[in-house]
Amino acid sequence: MSESGFKVHALELGPMENFVYLVEDVSTRRTAVVDPAWDVDSIIQAAGKLDLHITDILLTHSHHDHINGIEGVLNQVSAEVHLLKPEYEFWQHELDKPRLHHGGDEISLGDSRIKILHTPGHTPGSACYQLGNEIITGDTLFVFGCGRCDMKGGSPEKMFQTLKAMKERLPEDMLIHPGHNYSVKKSSTLAEQIEGNPFMHYEDEEQFIHYRMQVHDKTRDEPYASLSKQQLKIANLL
Ligand SMILES: [Fe+2]
Repeated sequence: MSESGFKVHALELGPMENFVYLVEDVSTRRTAVVDPAWDVDSIIQAAGKLDLHITDILLTHSHHDHINGIEGVLNQVSAEVHLLKPEYEFWQHELDKPRLHHGGDEISLGDSRIKILHTPGHTPGSACYQLGNEIITGDTLFVFGCGRCDMKGGSPEKMFQTLKAMKERLPEDMLIHPGHNYSVKKSSTLAEQIEGNPFMHYEDEEQFIHYRMQVHDKTRDEPYASLSKQQLKIANLL
């Protein structure tokens, strides 16, 4: 059990290696499902096995592979859906009384506090959820990677600013839980990402944009591994 009284359980589900997380408040058993998708029965069964009571659904963003289990979960349990207001406006999807948040808001889950960070770049209203020294990052930050910025609503400029702010403001020992299992490891610390995530090596916005939009997908494959600044320099010369 973590000192702050919560646990993060990861389920890898579906054809796109999505991570669905169960965030448990240990003292009350209240539980939030982050990005319910693909296999609702597995989500409900995992919660049942751990004796968890799902009361909340947290969305990191509105892409299909992160939300296609919302309805299925709501058919089985009564839960409040949380997302950032700019993502709700971007999505333009009908939800029954969602809780719309602004960046910096906190959600209470029993005795645990979950802080929502607004982290645009992959989509306009992408969110990360921070609990104590752990953070669920959706498709903003992957282990040794970051989300695409070339889809509708994506912005490499915003992604650069988002990752810069995360690098500067979050503690280096923070544990990162990404939205997909695209790497050689399932979670990582921020320090390890600053060291080996190519998207965290850039100081210059234009160079970051060029790498994200033109170079990255041609020079790297999954599973993503650590890439030093030197290796990144070489990749950019290809
Ligand atoms: Fe996505």
